[in-house]
Amino acid sequence: MEIREEIDRRRTFAIISHPDAGKTTLTEKLLLFGGAIHVAGAVKSNKIKKGATSDFMEIERQRGISVATSVMGFEYKGIKINILDTPGHEDFAEDTYRTLTAVDSVIIVVDAAKGVETQTRKLMEVCRMRNTPVMVFINKMDRPNRDPFDLLDEIEKELKIKVRPLAWPVSGGPTFKGVYNLYENKLSLFLSDDKQRAEGEVVDVALDDPRIDDYISPFTQHLRDDLELVEGVYPPFELDDYRAGELAPVFFGSALNNFGVRELLDCFIRIAPSPRGSRTEQRAIDPYEPRMTGFIFKIHANMDPNHRDRIAFLKICSGVFERNKPYLHVRSGKNMKFSSPNAFMAEKKSIVDLAYPGDIIGLHDTGNFKIGDTFTEGEQLKFTGIPSFSPELFRYIENADPMKFKQLYKGIDQLMDEGVAQLFTSKLNGRRIIGTVGALQFEVIQYRLEHEYGALCKYEPVQVYKACWVESDNREQMEDFRRRKFNNMALDKHGREVFLADTSYALTLAQEKFPEIRFHFTSEF
Ligand code: G4P
Repeated sequence: MEIREEIDRRRTFAIISHPDAGKTTLTEKLLLFGGAIHVAGAVKSNKIKKGATSDFMEIERQRGISVATSVMGFEYKGIKINILDTPGHEDFAEDTYRTLTAVDSVIIVVDAAKGVETQTRKLMEVCRMRNTPVMVFINKMDRPNRDPFDLLDEIEKELKIKVRPLAWPVSGGPTFKGVYNLYENKLSLFLSDDKQRAEGEVVDVALDDPRIDDYISPFTQHLRDDLELVEGVYPPFELDDYRAGELAPVFFGSALNNFGVRELLDCFIRIAPSPRGSRTEQRAIDPYEPRMTGFIFKIHANMDPNHRDRIAFLKICSGVFERNKPYLHVRSGKNMKFSSPNAFMAEKKSIVDLAYPGDIIGLHDTGNFKIGDTFTEGEQLKFTGIPSFSPELFRYIENADPMKFKQLYKGIDQLMDEGVAQLFTSKLNGRRIIGTVGALQFEVIQYRLEHEYGALCKYEPVQVYKACWVESDNREQMEDFRRRKFNNMALDKHGREVFLADTSYALTLAQEKFPEIRFHFTSEF
């Protein structure tokens, strides 16, 4: 196959949701439809079981298992699909944010009874920053649920995106029958109640076919009324608007019962974008360029003491990655070749000889790589669009063993490179502040410093509400800000200036008082 064809047939995406909305179930059903697995329940996704929330070692253990499911590749109707898994636990949200930098589109799962929840809202903000095309799957229609029109309104308002239903539920709750496929204008019902497999009888009848009554009576009229309203209220589906991240096609269904999943998948492979271009500090990268470029968006450290290895996930952005071919690791200036890069197919890892744009490969790492590292065939490039996100929890980190000063700082440095948390250094007193997205990370850091670096740390409270990167074209105002806010100024790991606001009120006040200063909530602006 030509390289161009290989690129065009790839779809790399992530499924995101608030915990419990059904991300794992949907992932599994997609793999089932794709023939990548044969029985539901086979995938142990990145999902962290309930009840494990207080035990981070258990969570890490489960995360360890899930290395193989970090990327799930499979073929469906000639299309190569790469699903990037994201951790369900919100304490690992930063992992999810970074994963979103490596995908070309996203499917958002929303619970039909709960509507849009906090985590979904936050993740959507990241999609919006990058204009990532999104599709929405409203799940659990087999349970008591909210009115579909209400749900669409809420999505539009809360996720700030135009919506267009492409599948419509026939009834809901206990009488849920299936979905009407608006994309292909036919009814899709599963008559089989075998939830474990993807087979089952599918009925295709159009709305104007009199036989429709045989299947969905007494809901036919209701469906006709609903669809009339849909056509009246929502503009027709425009592919360009979806691809620009401005319009979300919406599907209804029940992942658990296989309802609506095939409709979603069939539409997905038709409309979801193949690998898109990427940005570097130097120039734009076109996926069809002959030379290989790629960047590391995630590093997974194994906490099992018997296998203390790290896997760096490389997203191929252009050209063809070849096993055993030397590539330039731009940050160190060294040429490196990889004898056993891993590709991920469903749950299995295998050594791969060639990888194309859109593919993700796993590289063994002994501590040399950082998030954002770029590989090329010699060109000096640095990919952008892999920002750090403003953390939400902060603590001073102190050395608890004076003999292990060096180990501690080496450990902190490496953990930060891996993206476990972010480090800020106070300008006032030079103390180091760790910022994280979830409380669990503090424990993870403490544990790993001790077990991997032989260093002891302790935490002390610090009053910080939010860290924002600040800049201004008005030098005078910036100087004035620095002077007045000296106690709250810090430097991030790259030496950039960060304002650590004590409270949300202090932040608002600062924004009002210094209108020419830009306050950024991600490290790239
Ligand atoms: P997550 O990855 O987004 O956290 O959600 P997950 O798929 O694990 O689903 C959360 C719970 O919701 C699971 O039940 C799952 O079986 C259920 N679920 C998912 N899709 C549907 C659906 O379409 N209809 C109904 N009724 N339930 C659905 P659980 O009891 O928490 O877990 P399990 O013991 O069944 O695995």
